[in-house]
This record gives sequence, C-alpha cells and structure tokens, in this order.
Amino acid sequence: MVQCACDNITSPAQQIPDMSQIALMPDLFEGEGARPNAIANRLDASDRVIHDWYRFVLSFPPHLVRDYLERFGVAPGVTVLDPFCGTGTTVVEAKLHGICGIGVEANALAHFAGSVKTDWSVNPDALMACAQMIADAAEKKIAASLPDELRTLSAEAESLLLKESISPLPLHKALVLLETIEELRVQPCYRHLRLALARTLVYDVSNLHFGPEVGVKRVKLEDAPVVACWLATVQRMADDLRIVDRTAPPAVIHHADARRLANLLQPRSIDAVFTSPPYPNEKDYTRTTRLESVVLGLIKNKDDLRLVKQGLLRSNSRNIYKNDDDDRWIAQNAEIQALAIEIEQRRIELGKTSGFERMYARVTRHYFGGMARHLAELRPFLKPGAYLGYVVGEQASFFQVLIQTGRLLAEIAAELGYKVVDIDLFRTRLATATRQQMREEVVVLRWPERCASQSPKDGHTAQDISRIRIIC
Ligand SMILES: C[S@@+](CC[C@H](N)C(=O)[O-])C[C@H]1O[C@@H](n2cnc3c(N)ncnc32)[C@H](O)[C@@H]1O
Repeated sequence: MVQCACDNITSPAQQIPDMSQIALMPDLFEGEGARPNAIANRLDASDRVIHDWYRFVLSFPPHLVRDYLERFGVAPGVTVLDPFCGTGTTVVEAKLHGICGIGVEANALAHFAGSVKTDWSVNPDALMACAQMIADAAEKKIAASLPDELRTLSAEAESLLLKESISPLPLHKALVLLETIEELRVQPCYRHLRLALARTLVYDVSNLHFGPEVGVKRVKLEDAPVVACWLATVQRMADDLRIVDRTAPPAVIHHADARRLANLLQPRSIDAVFTSPPYPNEKDYTRTTRLESVVLGLIKNKDDLRLVKQGLLRSNSRNIYKNDDDDRWIAQNAEIQALAIEIEQRRIELGKTSGFERMYARVTRHYFGGMARHLAELRPFLKPGAYLGYVVGEQASFFQVLIQTGRLLAEIAAELGYKVVDIDLFRTRLATATRQQMREEVVVLRWPERCASQSPKDGHTAQDISRIRIIC
C-alpha cells in the first residue's frame, strides 16, 4: 500500500454494509440509532468503497440513498434513475447492491467522475502496474525540471480559477503528471488515472477549502508530494476494485440535461428516482469543480464555461441568460409568481441595484420552471407506481425571503399528475445570513398506477401540499 503524507484516509477494507441494518428515515432523527444532524450528511467510513474515488461538497451521503431505495422497495432487477447525478452517489450505491442505475449530469467533470466510478471493468493489478510506471516517469521529469521553468496553465485557463487555488510548485508537478498520463494513455486505465488526479488536485495539493462554499485557504500549501498522493489514490481504487462484485449490472451516466430526456431513456423503464437537484441560491455550482475541470482540460476558456452553465438548471444569478424561457412552465403558478414579486419588492425596498441582485426574481421563476420542465419531461419514462425522492433545501439567499423549495416542488409535481407521498426532514442547516435553521427535505413522490384516474387516496392533491409538514 502506497502511503501518502498528505492523506490520512486508510485503504477501505470494509464490506458493503447490510441494507437490512439501516433504519428508515424517521428513525434517523428520532429513534434508536439516530444520526445527529451534524453528521447526517457525512460519508461513513464503511461507505468509502468506490464513493470516495471522487466526491464533492454537493454530494449526498450513500446512507440516505440506501434508506430511500429500501423504502421504495428497490431490489436487483429494477432500474433506478438519478437525473441530477453529480458524481454518481445514487448510481454507485445502486450498483453496489446489484441494481441497474442510470444517471444524467450536465457538468462535464461531475459526469466524468460518475462514469469512472461506475466502471469496474479495470483489472486492479494492471491499474497499479500502469500507475507505478507513470509515477516513475513523472518523478524523473520533476526531478530534472529547473526551478525557473515550472509548467503553468495558459493565461486564459488560469483566469478561470479562483485566485491562488493551487501554488506554482504543486501545479507544476500535477501538469507533469498529467502530461505523462496523456503520453502513455494506457487503456483501459486512462480514465481512472485522470480521475485520481482530479481528486488529488483538489483534496491533497490545492489551497481550496469547502465550507460549504469553495474558497482559498489562508495557509497555503507551497509544495506537496503530488505523485505520491496520486499513487495512493490509485492504490485505493485498486483495493476497492478487488472487493466489489465486478460482474454487477452495468450503469450508464449520460452527459445531458435533465430537462431534455427524450433520447436518453426507454419509455416506462424507470422503477425509482432518487436525486438532489440544485437549489435556488447564490451558489455558482461550476466553481465547486473549477480547478480540476480546468487542469484536466474539460473547460479551456470562457466559452466552454458558459456552455457548461447554460446546460444547468437556472439556480443562481451567474447562470441566467437572455433567451432563457423555463419560467413559462410556472407562468400559472400563483405562489411562485407571488414569491418572485416579493423578492423583487424586497430588492427595491432595500435599494439594491447590482446586476446580480436584479436577477434574483428571475432566477426563482426559471429555477422552478426548470424543475417543472424536468418533471414533465420525465413522466413517459416512469413505470406506473414508480417512487421518486427529491432532496432539496429551503433557501433564504435572496434578500432573506424564505423559499420553501420542497413544498413548492411538491406543488408543481402534483399539478403535473404526481402523487405527493411525504415531505421528510433529512437535516437542518444554519443559514449564515439569518442564523435560522433551514430544512433540507426529501420530497417523496409517486407516479400513479393508472395515469387517467388519479385518486388522491394514497397521495396528496396540490391543495393539500401547503399543509404537508412532517415535523421531526
Ligand atoms: C446537488 S448536486 C447532486 C450531487 C449528487 N447527489 C452527488 O451525490 O454527487 C446537483 C447536480 O445537478 C447538476 N445539474 C444542474 N443542472 C442540471 C441539468 N439541467 N441536468 C443535469 N444535471 C444538472 C449539477 O451539475 C450538480 O452536479
């Protein structure tokens, strides 16, 4: 096992946890074995297998996926979809339990991570042999490089990064390592080796911290053993590949937009959905993956970055464009229109005039419109009786006006013919601006058994939803 000074995570030797040992959601907070709020979103040590190849701050924990897949009665032989799959937590968790998973992700780096995490076809010994050869070659090049000839990114690429995301020496070493991976381009290990570099860049050798916003640490890492850290990451991947069932059902992750599913899925093929879409707030989701996206060459310039942003649900004032029209999907929704008006009135009262602040009301309309478009688009692909879980959080980022994302989403879903089963509390988060506890919820929906006669017997109508609150 390769040891890396900058990484204290040991090799995952644990077996995949027994799903029967996991309590259902209400118990997580109230009963025996409850998970305190502070750790509800953490990755358990036993969940590091595969999941930890690359995760980001936006990821939800595997235990949450497990709990809901169990609650939805998902078992081998069925198909689970995550339409906003990020780095693939749902699809990986499904695969670990022998369940067929499909993901959709619009951000190229997250899509890449999810695709590699669900590719278990690589022979672990071949992976290590290949990594060792590349490490040796890269170390030689690094040892031979002159201090005044450090590799750098192009000025254009550098301008996309948060300032001082990574110090010059670790960046030089990472670029030498990347060049060596590219030169040898050994298949089928190539993508795994690049993903290991993405992880090393962010978590071992950069100056970034996530709390949960991405920022630059005051204490900067002037140098780091980049190649050793990378090799340790590859070693953990190889260790995981030795213990997982490499014959598990295949998983597919589409690089696509969850608002346009038409050519991706088979009609009536999805048994369950579990996902966490973005929330309406001021987070620019592309900043979370910026360093590794730029260094790996997935985003080379401002045009590439704009393309990524345009493929995302409109959730912040940095990804709103002139021709956006998702808002037409909620044009008749009185509550969302009233919410957008309230946000705009608050802006005027407060005398806020920046271009970004003027966008908040539009973001709110386009966000819920985009979610309505996604939910409408999804319907033909769901099997009758399919369960869906959407993890969403309350927000107050727009002049502290409360946006009850879960409740509004449930209302939109009901208008589109879904049954609203529950709105469960997953955890609460402290809002920095208001110091209020904000709810993060799982909106549980069901696609009716018979679409023509929707009986609210085992679900709630749109009118009921304003009353739904599962108090935990
Ligand atoms: C909260 S994150 C999901 C994290 C994921 N559950 C995980 O565990 O890694 C939301 C994801 O939705 C993606 N996204 C945003 N708009 C999208 C769209 N229109 N289609 C597909 N994915 C989108 C973002 O890039 C982001 O990765």
